[in-house]
Amino acid sequence: MINKMSVCKAALLAAVVAFAFTTAAVAQDATYVGNSQCKICHNKKEEGEQWTKWKAEAHSKALELLSTDKAKEVATKAGLTKPAAESPECLKCHVTAADATGKCPEKIQPTDGVQCEACHGPASAHTAEGKKFKGGDKTAEPAKKILKPNAETCKKCHNEKNPTAKPGEVFDFDKMYAKINHNNPAKAK
Ligand code: HEC
Ligand code: HEC
Ligand code: HEC
Ligand code: HEC
Repeated sequence: MINKMSVCKAALLAAVVAFAFTTAAVAQDATYVGNSQCKICHNKKEEGEQWTKWKAEAHSKALELLSTDKAKEVATKAGLTKPAAESPECLKCHVTAADATGKCPEKIQPTDGVQCEACHGPASAHTAEGKKFKGGDKTAEPAKKILKPNAETCKKCHNEKNPTAKPGEVFDFDKMYAKINHNNPAKAK
């Protein structure tokens, strides 16, 4: 564990390091591709229209939330000198894969808030495998090259460092995932 984690830049925030570690097993060399790519293959109604569901739920609006009056209040209380929407202290949980300066990877639009790869990890390897699969290569295994998120994934943002969290609040994965459930109804769980 220590060994793998030391690959990450020491300057990265703890939450980011923890996430990088969780995704390492599935996506060692993968880079971020952006949600418009996922939409190409994951938006069929009969398979759960994952993209449309995400676009309609709170995570896709997480950056907008940083420009509200409530956000200003929270930012002032936290002693920030810049607006919340420009502060790495807030961006680390309100956009996807922000670095220590608040900057997102090239293919990630901050305006899309918390998008697919914030939970599923960088997906270039999965996307390439998905293309092979769609092209008829039945040896391709896209499902093996993407992270299946769990409660730990959520807790890198849904934790006590969230300045708006209620004291003592415990993250309930089943209850929270039910609100954003985008499973494939064609697959028996
Ligand atoms: C070129 C097509 C393609 C693209 C682009 C693509 N996927 Fe997939 N994805 C697939 C295929 C094919 C499967 C396997 C489907 C199956 O097993 O039912 C899959 C499966 C998955 C699964 C389920 C894995 C499992 O264990 O069942 C997840 C999660 C997923 N993709 C997420 C994403 C995300 C997030 C993106 C965008 C970053 C993305 N995919 C982009 C084709 C694609
Ligand atoms: C550790 C992750 C984390 C950090 C850091 C963080 N947030 Fe959030 N924030 C969240 C989560 C998660 C939610 C959604 C909580 C929920 O509704 O369950 C949220 C919700 C909010 C809300 C809506 C709360 C409400 O009650 O309506 C505002 C406003 C907000 N954040 C502002 C900020 C500001 C401003 C900063 C920077 C000073 C910040 N956040 C930093 C994780 C974070
Ligand atoms: C990268 C940070 C991040 C991750 C990872 C994350 N969330 Fe969130 N989540 C947020 C933020 C920020 C908000 C507030 C967005 C808004 O209200 O626009 C939020 C809002 C929500 C909401 C809507 C508010 C509420 O309390 O009903 C649900 C439900 C939710 N998250 C569930 C989850 C689940 C389940 C996971 C893990 C599978 C997860 N989140 C992972 C940052 C994150
Ligand atoms: C807040 C975290 C979060 C975000 C954002 C998110 N997902 Fe997921 N996704 C999950 C979780 C959790 C599961 C369920 C994993 C499981 O069942 O083990 C899941 C499951 C899936 C599956 C598998 C469905 C199945 O039943 O086989 C696909 C495909 C998928 N997501 C695609 C996407 C795409 C595409 C996006 C963006 C448009 C996206 N996800 C955004 C957390 C997220």
